[in-house]
Amino acid sequence: MKKETEVSAVSSSSTQVGIVGGGPAGLMLSHLLDRAGIDNIVIDNRTRGEIESTVRAGILEVDSVNLLVDTGVSDRVFRDGHAHEGIELRFGGENHRIDFKSLVGESAWLYPQTDVFIDLADSRERDGADVRFGIGGVRVSDATADRPSITYSDDQGEHEIHCDYLVGADGSRSICRHEMPESQRRHFFKEYPFAWFGFLVEAPPSAPELVYVHSDRGFALISQRTDSLQRMYFQCDPDEDVAKWSDDRIWEEMQARVAGADGFSLKEGPISDQAVLRFRSFVCEPMRYGSMVLAGDAAHTVPPTGAKGLNLALADVKILAEVLERSVAADDKTILDDYGPRALDRVWRAQQFSYWMTTMLHTLPEADDYDNARQVAELASVVSSVPGSTYLAEAYTGWPGRD
Ligand code: PHB
Repeated sequence: MKKETEVSAVSSSSTQVGIVGGGPAGLMLSHLLDRAGIDNIVIDNRTRGEIESTVRAGILEVDSVNLLVDTGVSDRVFRDGHAHEGIELRFGGENHRIDFKSLVGESAWLYPQTDVFIDLADSRERDGADVRFGIGGVRVSDATADRPSITYSDDQGEHEIHCDYLVGADGSRSICRHEMPESQRRHFFKEYPFAWFGFLVEAPPSAPELVYVHSDRGFALISQRTDSLQRMYFQCDPDEDVAKWSDDRIWEEMQARVAGADGFSLKEGPISDQAVLRFRSFVCEPMRYGSMVLAGDAAHTVPPTGAKGLNLALADVKILAEVLERSVAADDKTILDDYGPRALDRVWRAQQFSYWMTTMLHTLPEADDYDNARQVAELASVVSSVPGSTYLAEAYTGWPGRD
């Protein structure tokens, strides 16, 4: 008879790649590894329902769309998503269009992250993948050893998964990242003195494309979801209390931020899903430690202004799947060293782009008239110059044609 205090595993499994995190990065990696004949198990402490009900950002680069479609996850993005051939930068009360199609020959796709997750989760289920959602008490150990392990417990007891490789795709509060001793990792970090107040609106779209608004009352973003549901944000204090914002107060603030001589105004409707989204810029280097690698938000986060978070996660795992495939085939873990530098090239380009968009469009708490006028001059330089607009279009659509 086992003693109450004794902990012994009730199940023990083995796999080639253990993936912590069943968000888009973890599920896409699992899918790509399956296609390469590499056995893997995905675990996540959230339930599928919890992940699905979190409202997230909504822009996909063309390479992200191609990855979903070409590898057979789903082509629903072509039916339910919308190709956007440009965005509006609104400042001085006027719209200025950045025409992606004519500048770089590509579009960005409006397709919410929640739908990407649903497509991936459905596809993993269809393929009979081992994805375990909603499990508690996850721990990882022996990241540097040849056989790292993941343990977790449920009401039956303790479960162990032994793996050859461990992937931390477990988001910005990653437990895997903390397996790397502090002396072995470097954190690059930037905090911003503002946040976004995000909400959903039951109304028709106010504009056919996204409108990024600079105003002397602060930033606003007009995005879309469907013909009858829209997503909007406005810059707020990181400690803002959503309970203090009635629908009327939100509309008054939003209409004031978008007001201008052209008479543009927002189509109003009932508001739901209000939330304050704090953000920061963060990179952890290196992305490999022993038998463990990090992917997506576990290794880096960006402010949402450039819509890069999900796209970076998908770009990471595309490279990672290919590197893991070579490493498994050669039975050589030093090949994992190829992953970080290749992924970080894009990560730092996206850091720069997201930082630049954020600082160009938001108002710092201590900003004065000089700062405001300088930002307007910067925006005017971007929209009035082909190289300036091309830089924005190229970065926004995801540097088409580059690794
Ligand atoms: C969104 O639709 O939620 C969205 C779009 C673009 C961004 C951020 C969020 O830059």
